[in-house]
Amino acid sequence: MENYNPDVDAAVRRITEKMDCVSDRSKDKIPYRTIDGVHNDLSESDINWWTNGFWPGIQWLLYHETGDGKYAAIARNAEKKLDRCFEEFYGIHHDAGFMWLLSAAADYRLTGDRDAKRRALHAANLLAGRFNPAGNFIRAWNGTDNSGWAIIDCMMNLALLYWASEETGDPRYRRIAECHADTTSSCFVRPDGSVRHIVIFDSENSGMIEELGGQGYAKGSSWTRGQAWGIYGFTISWKHTRKKLYLETARKIADYFISQIPDDSLIPADFCQPQLPHLEDSLAAAIAACGMIELSRELGKEGALYLDTAKRMLGALLEKRCCWKKETDGILERCTAAYHHQEKEINIIYGDYFLMEGVFKLKGNDIFLW
Ligand code: GLY
Repeated sequence: MENYNPDVDAAVRRITEKMDCVSDRSKDKIPYRTIDGVHNDLSESDINWWTNGFWPGIQWLLYHETGDGKYAAIARNAEKKLDRCFEEFYGIHHDAGFMWLLSAAADYRLTGDRDAKRRALHAANLLAGRFNPAGNFIRAWNGTDNSGWAIIDCMMNLALLYWASEETGDPRYRRIAECHADTTSSCFVRPDGSVRHIVIFDSENSGMIEELGGQGYAKGSSWTRGQAWGIYGFTISWKHTRKKLYLETARKIADYFISQIPDDSLIPADFCQPQLPHLEDSLAAAIAACGMIELSRELGKEGALYLDTAKRMLGALLEKRCCWKKETDGILERCTAAYHHQEKEINIIYGDYFLMEGVFKLKGNDIFLW
């Protein structure tokens, strides 16, 4: 097993130097990915896309790290563009959490801006409105035949509901989040600690109907990013509720994940994928590392294994999967959106977000936005 030990100061320096240039170049965009090294822009073409909070999130991380107001201005620019989602309404989905936690809620946390608070509370209400009491789950997407669909990724969106209860003193949001987390723990997590990506519930009469492979290799497989969302998501639920079930579930998924990590510490797109083609997902590594660092913080001495593993995965990414050339817009390479997606192993914006979050966590002066 190769033991990568990240040089955190060097990583922070490289990130801040590169992002100083990239942020100036992409200041009017909301990027999803790079194409030939250049950020694309979804602000006109797909304002409802679920990753649209990560660009402002990156800017808030940089603002917190450097104190430079230019990053706050770029983040606010994107936050305001997201208002179109509220106006158009029909495109909003459960990833309201990802979109507004890292934009408006981050703005409010860092600056106290009242407009930002209003936006984040509005988003929390829209997310809470997706709860179905018949099956105790939050509906993932819109459409005519998916009223019973829920996905593991939603564990991250719950953070917006916890924040809304903490901010308003109204327990409704937290209660909805707990119902969804309970259902996820019982219906998504398998006995060995691996997790399903999509579960279909009976949206009228409750009960699980079936699982789907979703963005993973196949039904019954272990899409690594889903495992990573589970580790981080249940840790977040534990942090906000202190409900033991969530801590135990996070550990169970993390232990399974650790048992599957290859010797080079680079994470495949699915732990059950065939040997060829060998697809990597650097996103899964970065997200799982962030989740494991938070888990280790919760567990003190008992959490040493999770911290060591996080360092190993981030170290491998920093050494082998990062592009530090200032002329290109992306940093983290070999991110796979979905196992069967046509475009594999590309740079995707939330890879850069979680890489930065992880490095700033290791530095120890991070801000917790979840
Ligand atoms: N939330 C969808 C994904 O992880 O790609």
